[in-house]
Amino acid sequence: MTRPALARAAAPPDTLAGASIDTARRRLARCFRAHGFEAPALDARILVGHALGLDHTGLAAQANRVLTPEEAGAIAEISARRLAHEPVARIRGEKEFWGLPFKVNSETLLPRPETETVVETALAALDRDHRKSQALRVVDLGTGSGALLLALLGELPRACGIGTDISIAALQCARDNAVALRLSARASFVACDYGAAVGAPADLLVSNPPYVARTDIAALQAEVREFDPRRALDGGPDGLDGYRAIASQARGLLTPEGILVVEVGQGQFAAVTAIFAATGLEPAAPGYDLSGIPRALVMRAWP
Ligand SMILES: C[S@@+](CC[C@H](N)C(=O)[O-])C[C@H]1O[C@@H](n2cnc3c(N)ncnc32)[C@H](O)[C@@H]1O
Repeated sequence: MTRPALARAAAPPDTLAGASIDTARRRLARCFRAHGFEAPALDARILVGHALGLDHTGLAAQANRVLTPEEAGAIAEISARRLAHEPVARIRGEKEFWGLPFKVNSETLLPRPETETVVETALAALDRDHRKSQALRVVDLGTGSGALLLALLGELPRACGIGTDISIAALQCARDNAVALRLSARASFVACDYGAAVGAPADLLVSNPPYVARTDIAALQAEVREFDPRRALDGGPDGLDGYRAIASQARGLLTPEGILVVEVGQGQFAAVTAIFAATGLEPAAPGYDLSGIPRALVMRAWP
């Protein structure tokens, strides 16, 4: 008895013509729930709002309005993308990070909440040295959407910075975000292998390099495996290639008082610390994410 009902609920709602906005939202939520999505109601609300160009208030105010055929088609198209596991933020083309809106594209990682630990830890380390108001130079290796660099520049009013990446499309996205966040006067972006083309040493060097072991990629959630760019995930056979590459450049990229803060994957903390310690950098107090996992490794050029 339940099977036909489930099948009906799970079918993509491609026949929304004549439905009200509220009916469409509820049908999408039911469909996403039947497919096992974690936040079906929220996804449905955001995506219907995105398809119609309406915010939360607009959706509530127009709940009973009947969809035009074009609107019904747009919602059906977006719901099909979500059913193919495309993340909501990718469909919207925007993800919030450190309370700021970041545009994303197919060549940028979606900035993750745990990466905010890098920002928090870097700011705490600078604060401890009473350096937050200085004219610092910040470098972000593998900048993607520019999330780390631009969040930091937003908090450090006299700092300027450089973000690097090997993806030209990611760098363009980061540049656009710098403009949108009114930080472009203090941020520049360069295509190179981590810090290879960074001219002058940094007071603060940050990075969230790709750190998934290559053989683990197949087991990632479809949302990540199929939609985050491979070069943002693949850390080589043991996941540590990016750290080794950065460590080989790190001493030359840091001022004598410089601080390096890198994000590390779960279970990688000891190995990554050893890679950087082998270059003569000294470990300092790490940053922990909300699950209590050491996420931000801090190394200093001086003890
Ligand atoms: C995990 S993503 C991090 C993106 C962004 N920093 C963030 O935290 O959301 C890693 C980034 O490193 C870039 N990348 C990979 N290999 C690189 C290399 N050899 N040199 C510079 N960037 C690289 C990727 O293109 C990707 O944008």
